[in-house]
Amino acid sequence: MFIGSFALANNVFAAPMAGVTDRPFRMLCKKLGAGYAVSEMVTSRRDLWDTLKTSRRANHNGEPEPIAVQIAGTDAQMMADAAAYNIDRGAQIIDINMGCPAKKVCNKWAGSALMQDEKLALEIVEAVVAACAPRNVPVTLKMRTGWAQTHKNAVAIARAAQSAGVAMVAVHGRTREQGYTGLAEYDTIAEVKAALTIPVAANGDITSGQKAREVLAYTGADAVMLGRVAQGRPWIFREVVHFLATGTQLAPPLVLDVKRLLLDHLQDHYELYGEFTGVRSARKHIGWYVKSLPGGEAFRAQMNLLGDAGAQLHAVATFFDGLCEATDRMPLAAAVENKNEEECSV
Ligand SMILES: Cc1cc2nc3c(=O)[nH]c(=O)nc-3n(C[C@H](O)[C@H](O)[C@H](O)COP(=O)(O)O)c2cc1C
Repeated sequence: MFIGSFALANNVFAAPMAGVTDRPFRMLCKKLGAGYAVSEMVTSRRDLWDTLKTSRRANHNGEPEPIAVQIAGTDAQMMADAAAYNIDRGAQIIDINMGCPAKKVCNKWAGSALMQDEKLALEIVEAVVAACAPRNVPVTLKMRTGWAQTHKNAVAIARAAQSAGVAMVAVHGRTREQGYTGLAEYDTIAEVKAALTIPVAANGDITSGQKAREVLAYTGADAVMLGRVAQGRPWIFREVVHFLATGTQLAPPLVLDVKRLLLDHLQDHYELYGEFTGVRSARKHIGWYVKSLPGGEAFRAQMNLLGDAGAQLHAVATFFDGLCEATDRMPLAAAVENKNEEECSV
């Protein structure tokens, strides 16, 4: 599958998640099978570009290509400038956020709220494409099915975006109004796919290879995009890729391998955030890794008391060594519960 001229390793993608899909996590997802991963959103507000938060989000050191950066905002010129800024910092694909119930940017609602104003949405798409096309950088769009149950306008926006030069569209099967309630629906995604000639990625509640296969078949989409299920379980990508290729389940990973990859993940995380912030922001990742494991909840509570990297690494290693004595493989993820939470701050 291609986005512009970029050939992707496969059609199982990592969804952008603010506060989660930072560079260390994206690299892990790609290493463990994701064919593509989009950054957390970067604000289009120039006054915030020099903040630590934005500069970390624009850090792509060592990340395998293609480097895809999501931008969020409500002003066409500012979005075009943000695209150019990120291209100068290594972005090879620019993704426009119309998918996330984001916070306000410049007193206007960004993200999926843009779907309420089709004219503005299209102006943004056109301005971003105009900034990216001369640099041969494809533009993609991440959207929801619409902004309300009675206003599902994904097909109209996707069609207009394709005409404006967008190279791929990803659709989360919920409306903005829904937030994360209810179930994702795939009829609208199928309609979007049928209306377009560019690739379409289906997103929302895809938590297994089986579900990925069903959604691909039902919608005709070219790719699936997985979000929350990958939290603490980045090997889900190779499991889904394997299932799509063979129709069989991969054995769960060895506990020892998960221990190693989590320790490497943490080291990478501390390098990006520094020890003080890194130890604190790593807690949520560790919590996700251990959540469904025996003793995981108690470990999570105990780990939240640790304030330095050495102690955190040691505690994680000891926890997984203990688990190794009981079992050599991670438990089968039978029912993965998707969390209905979002931290979409720009
Ligand atoms: C913590 C969190 C942060 C998110 N941040 C973004 C974001 O920055 N940009 C975006 O387009 N979508 C964002 N999303 C939405 C996801 O990309 C995805 O569309 C949604 O989680 C549905 O997919 P899933 O059911 O596989 O999780 C976020 C979701 C979560 C849970």
